[in-house]
Amino acid sequence: MNYINNQYQLIKKLSAGSYGIVYEGENIPTKTSVAIKIEKKDKPQTLEREVSSLSRLSKIAGIPQIYWNGTHNGQNVLVMQLLSKDLGCYLKEYRKFTLKTVLMIADQLIQILRNVHQKSILHRDLKPENLMYHQRQIYIVDFGISKIYRDSTQKHIPFREGRPFVGTTRYAPIAAHKGHELSRKDDLETLIYILVLFLKGVLPWQHQLSQNNKERQKLIGEKKIKLSSTEICQDLPIEFQKALDHIKSLGFSVEPDYDYLINLFRKLGQRHGFEYDNLFDWCKEEEVIAQAKIMQQSEKMQPFSVKCQSLQIPSTLECFEKKQSSISNILQNPMQISQSAVIVEINSDTNLSDDSTNYLYNNYQQLENFSNLYKNHLLIMKDK
Ligand SMILES: Nc1ncnc2c1ncn2[C@@H]1O[C@H](COP(=O)(O)OP(=O)(O)O)[C@@H](O)[C@H]1O
Ligand SMILES: [Mg+2]
Repeated sequence: MNYINNQYQLIKKLSAGSYGIVYEGENIPTKTSVAIKIEKKDKPQTLEREVSSLSRLSKIAGIPQIYWNGTHNGQNVLVMQLLSKDLGCYLKEYRKFTLKTVLMIADQLIQILRNVHQKSILHRDLKPENLMYHQRQIYIVDFGISKIYRDSTQKHIPFREGRPFVGTTRYAPIAAHKGHELSRKDDLETLIYILVLFLKGVLPWQHQLSQNNKERQKLIGEKKIKLSSTEICQDLPIEFQKALDHIKSLGFSVEPDYDYLINLFRKLGQRHGFEYDNLFDWCKEEEVIAQAKIMQQSEKMQPFSVKCQSLQIPSTLECFEKKQSSISNILQNPMQISQSAVIVEINSDTNLSDDSTNYLYNNYQQLENFSNLYKNHLLIMKDK
């Protein structure tokens, strides 16, 4: 087998970005899952820069951990922590996010950006596809066009004009359109555009018709310059406009007031009574899907209906039905039957005692909650 570094095996392709292909892989000796990014040969080589930035940022919450980097079959390879899904995927699925979810994302991202900037690094290509979710934490990935903006003496790079465009047109800060050197404020300006998109599902400069990429870049740049913060954040809580105004007022090398932004958004969350529990919009559905998978597995192994037949204790079942007449409806749904099989561990070899009956009742509430959750899930899926 042609393992990478005699250790890592590719399992499946997760995504092909502009510069690299990302796979899910396995660290064979430890049997743990990893992400493997392999750089495309015909594209500008950016993986070395990415590795250098990620190494500098190691141990920061919200930055994927690097496990190994090197070459394999002449291609640059980066092995890192495997994360769940990027926010672009969730946005496609949900169209937009709730205010609570967006505020929790903002809170985490501003803190991560503060730490990244503190290590003298600019990301310069923030966008939903480069933001990921994993176990209640938001991550920033893809440091392929990141840049060190100050040296070891903390001296800031100079302001320059006539720079080539960097980033992604839809999310780029105005400075990128103008060909200016980018700085800390620009990562934050992009962040606000992303938050606006998350809340509204659309940005004012989307769907701009144009001949080609250069033309589109120009038109979108002009639109961003023309629109005021009020217009960009129309219909949103005033805090988003205030945040954008603060960011736009910053000079090239000025340190943004991260605390001001964090507190601004936290106060908004408080006013709405949001609990920052990091249960994002997509967590509920994922929980249901995970439960359903367990249920199906268990149903395959030992169907509940078979277990019921083998019990042959009608009196217990009758009594059960009397106490909760709707149980029969529940039992007609195979998904719910399998769920009860998971919850209620009935051993068909033993007679049901009063204790087991009580056990069934106690778990009934849980079963009902689950079935409501599952019904909602089906409704959501039907709406799509
Ligand atoms: N550590 C990771 N774990 C799981 N998926 C990842 C990871 N890093 C990136 N991805 C997925 O791969 C996509 C492309 O990776 P990215 O680093 O952005 O490459 P590119 O430079 O080609 O855009 C991301 O949008 C994301 O969906
Ligand atoms: Mg990317």
